[in-house]
Amino acid sequence: MSPAEPYASLRWPSEIAALDAKRALAAIAATAVRDALDAAPDAPPRVGVGSGSTSFLTLLALADRRADLPDGVAIVATSYEMEWYATAAGFPVVDLSDRPVVVAFDGADQVDPDGALIKGRGGAMRRERAVLVAAGRELIVVDTTKRVPALGGCPVPLELDPSRLFETVRAVESAAGVPVALRHGTGKDGPVVTESRGVLADLVFPHGMVITADLDAGVRSVAGVWDTGYFAPSPKRALIEG
Ligand code: A5P
Repeated sequence: MSPAEPYASLRWPSEIAALDAKRALAAIAATAVRDALDAAPDAPPRVGVGSGSTSFLTLLALADRRADLPDGVAIVATSYEMEWYATAAGFPVVDLSDRPVVVAFDGADQVDPDGALIKGRGGAMRRERAVLVAAGRELIVVDTTKRVPALGGCPVPLELDPSRLFETVRAVESAAGVPVALRHGTGKDGPVVTESRGVLADLVFPHGMVITADLDAGVRSVAGVWDTGYFAPSPKRALIEG
């Protein structure tokens, strides 16, 4: 599964879990994006594209509907790979600037009954948050495996300032009361560094410990924490779920 030539070598790098479910939801999400663009006053409109396999499939589904989209629709991407996929799929890619983003779509690692999310398995949560905040409407596409009664039981991603890493890790562990594990690259030695030059790590929660807004606020209050994977509920968020 890949975008059209000449970029067909840009493939999703691993097997996609729950592929059929994600593909079906991606088609629904792409139609919802098209409908949001139809109603948008701004031209040419901009669409925010999250990262991860669900966003990848939704981008491909949107490319399939290109003939139905307004002229000049442009993509605001949340990672290098989504920038490349969007270009491969034939969309212009633009920076997040002052111009409005009509609608943004994204995936999530977990979603609770209030619509709070854990994101960032793929390390893109900082730019994902910036694009979702800028968007008039959020479409979060989640298969049933992402639904949980309460957030927890998974690592919570962190993006940290590399210049004060060890002080930050110690302070975060003290604020959260759980260990922090730095992520290590697989294609190179050393850390996993983001598009914003932050270092990726994860809060390691014991089974059964619930992740709350208060806990997230405590972690965010530590100097050197650039972002976390906790996304509070939002009134402009719609879930597209299977
Ligand atoms: C990317 O960093 C993440 O926030 C993804 O949006 C999230 O991990 C969902 O990924 P999948 O769509 O691959 O499950």
